[in-house]
Amino acid sequence: MTGVDVSAGLGDAAFAEIEALFNERSVLCLRGQDLTEPQYIAFAKRFGMVEQIFMADYAHKSYPEIFLVSNIKENGRDIGHADAGSVWHTDMSYTDRPPRATLLYAVEVPVRDGVVLGDTTFASTAAAYDALPEETKERIEGLTVIHDVFGRRAKTGTHTQQDEARKNQPKVRHPFARTHPFTGRKCLYVSPGECIGIEGMSEDEAVPLINELAATIPEERFRHVHKWQAGDILIWDNCAVQHLASFDYKWPQERRLMWRMTVGGSATS
Ligand code: SIN
Repeated sequence: MTGVDVSAGLGDAAFAEIEALFNERSVLCLRGQDLTEPQYIAFAKRFGMVEQIFMADYAHKSYPEIFLVSNIKENGRDIGHADAGSVWHTDMSYTDRPPRATLLYAVEVPVRDGVVLGDTTFASTAAAYDALPEETKERIEGLTVIHDVFGRRAKTGTHTQQDEARKNQPKVRHPFARTHPFTGRKCLYVSPGECIGIEGMSEDEAVPLINELAATIPEERFRHVHKWQAGDILIWDNCAVQHLASFDYKWPQERRLMWRMTVGGSATS
């Protein structure tokens, strides 16, 4: 979306237009922004309350609502979460009120030979649900999935950065197929990383079912690849899409710095 200047502040009608488009499309890019931290925070809050940042070490030092996603090191330490999004996932499904939206503002993007690297790819959980055979929809109707922050991913050792707050996060439960809180569409809400079981089902039966249906989400036909430009604000819907970051840039010389905010948590149904 072009022609929007977030730094100038948005009236209710302009924001309503953005919000309607966001609910319809699930991923929205506002290109060409030039924002201070307070301007960015004020815009993000239009989508809902700011969520707690778990990995507090990577919060912006002056504006702790902003979480830094970055491969930049200062004084030998990562300034931000360096491997965020390394597997397909939806943000913070391990909380009982997962965020409605995540915003990522591109402060610095890695460029090689004129090509911007570090794409983010999205897959529609709503389209994946719609494409399921009717008997599969019936099979998962009413099933409740158990989400655990380190879940099965912890066992495979792909998580490299953890923190105490997340380690103490209790297991939570969400529907296998969530009803989107704004559009009413059904969306598959499972990922192998966080989902450890299904209530009332043996692990031997639950895990293959989670894996099988989670694997349908990132199919090519449900995907969209975002090619970044510095100054993009990208907003994604955590019920309607999953996402995956790419790490095709060299560390530390090809610098990437994103300001991330997660907002608008609500109970699932
Ligand atoms: C994330 O998964 O939060 C970050 C995605 C990205 O950096 O592309």
